[in-house]
Amino acid sequence: MSITTLKIGAVTLKNNLILAPMAGITNSPYRQIVMESGAALTYSEMISGNGLIRDGLRTLELLKRTLVETPFAVQLFGDDPEVLAEAAHIASRYGELIDLNMGCPVKKVVRSGAGSALMQEPQKVAKIICAMRQATSLPLTVKIRSGWTVADINFQLIGQICQDEGADAVILHPRTRCQGFGGHSNWQHIRQLKQHLTIPVIGSGDIITADDAFAMLEQTGCDGIMIGRGSYGNPWLFNAIVQRAAGEEVTPPSRQQRLETALRHLNLYAGYYGERKTLLDMRKHLCWYSRGLNGASEFRAAINRCTTLTEVKEQSISFFNQESN
Ligand SMILES: Cc1cc2nc3c(=O)[nH]c(=O)nc-3n(C[C@H](O)[C@H](O)[C@H](O)COP(=O)(O)O)c2cc1C
Repeated sequence: MSITTLKIGAVTLKNNLILAPMAGITNSPYRQIVMESGAALTYSEMISGNGLIRDGLRTLELLKRTLVETPFAVQLFGDDPEVLAEAAHIASRYGELIDLNMGCPVKKVVRSGAGSALMQEPQKVAKIICAMRQATSLPLTVKIRSGWTVADINFQLIGQICQDEGADAVILHPRTRCQGFGGHSNWQHIRQLKQHLTIPVIGSGDIITADDAFAMLEQTGCDGIMIGRGSYGNPWLFNAIVQRAAGEEVTPPSRQQRLETALRHLNLYAGYYGERKTLLDMRKHLCWYSRGLNGASEFRAAINRCTTLTEVKEQSISFFNQESN
C-alpha cells in the first residue's frame, strides 16, 4: 500500500494524504497552504452541531472556505442524533464530505457527551450515524480513538457500528481518551481495524516525516493517512511524500521557499482575520516555519516584540534572507 488515489463514498481523492482537523490551527488560510502543498483533502476545525443549527455567526465563520480547499470535509461534534442529523444536512451545503468527531478528549466537550465520550456509548453511536446517514447523501466519515481508557479499548466495535450504519470511512487516532496526546499512538490498532472493516481506514498519529508516513502505510495496511502536528511549519511534507513515492529526489525547502510560504500564509491570514488576530496567531506559525534554522531563537524573540504586521514582515524577510542554513 502506498500513495494512491482514495475513494471515500462517491468522492475520489487525488492521493491518500489528508490534513488532520486541528481546532485553532486548521482554519482556511492553513488549509489553503496545505492544499497547495499536495494534500488531497482537508477537514474543518470541529464544529458544534448545536451551534450550526442555531446559525451562530462564529459557527458559520468556521465553514468558510475557498475553491482551493476542494474537496473539503466539515467535521461536526455533538451527542444528539436529531441535532447532528440536522447539522449534517446544513453542513452538506458547505463541504464535499461530512465527518463526526468521536475523538476530542477536551473536558468541556466530553462532559456534554460529545467527542470521545461517545466511544462509551455504542448504541448512541449507532443512532447518530444512522440519523446522519439519512440526513446527507455526501460521504460520511467518523474520526474515533482507540477507546476511553486502556481497560476499555473498543475501536473495533465502534468502527463496525459506523460501517454497519453507513459510514464511508473511519479515521482512527489510536490513543485512548485518557491518554490525551501523551505517549505514542498505537499503530497496531490501525492495522487491526483495517483487517476488521471493509470501508477505508485512515490512520492518524505521530507522522512527522515522510519516513513515518511510509512506515504507517506499510505497518498497518491502512488506506490513507492523516497528518496533524507534523504539518506545523512544514506544509511541504505532503509533496515530499508524493515525490518520494514517485521515486523523485526530495530537497528540503530553502530559506527563500520558507519565506515565500510564510509570507503567503501571513497575507492570507490578515485578509481573513485582520491585523490584530494575525499578529497574535501567526507568531506560532512563524516560529514553526523557522524551526531548525540558524538564528531561529532570536527571530522568535523578535517576532514576539513586533506590534504591527509591517514589522513582522520586515523581521521575516531579514531572517529568512540570511545566507546561513
Ligand atoms: C491542537 C490540536 C487540535 C486538534 N483538534 C482536533 C479536532 O478539532 N478534531 C479532531 O478530530 N481531532 C483534533 N485533533 C487531533 C488530530 O486531528 C490528530 O488526530 C492528532 O493530533 C494525532 O495526529 P498527529 O500526531 O499527526 O498530530 C487535534 C490535535 C491537535 C494537536
